[in-house]
Amino acid sequence: GCCTVLIDGEPRLSCLTLAVEAEQTAITTVEGLADGPHLHPVQTCFATYGGSQCGFCTPGFLVVAAALLEEEPEPNDQQIMDAIEGNLCRCTGYQQIVESIKQAAVLKREKGNEPAASDPHSNPHPTAHSPVPEGPFE
Ligand code: FES
Repeated sequence: GCCTVLIDGEPRLSCLTLAVEAEQTAITTVEGLADGPHLHPVQTCFATYGGSQCGFCTPGFLVVAAALLEEEPEPNDQQIMDAIEGNLCRCTGYQQIVESIKQAAVLKREKGNEPAASDPHSNPHPTAHSPVPEGPFE
């Protein structure tokens, strides 16, 4: 499930989807979950509650979790486990992932997809219009 993306809001394995099948669809990758430097609640909570360790599996879990929370704002443990059943993680034992998704649901219900204004993260996709960080750099 590492390659999961959202196609018209539905989690799909990108490795098993032909480009022609995705024609005229809206595709959201893990990079599209964040709003510029502001993380999606699932990204914030995976970082805060240990849902990501080595990170290899993380993009797929984040995309699946974001889709779940759009469909079910207050998922129970079974709904979370059902949603992530196609995603494998060798590091976390899944408990931290389930907890991260539960906490993301709480955060999302409280704040929508809007992160705390005081908690911007660095923009992983700087553009020519992004501010250039000031040095000195070693
Ligand atoms: Fe390492 Fe999931 S965090 S495989």
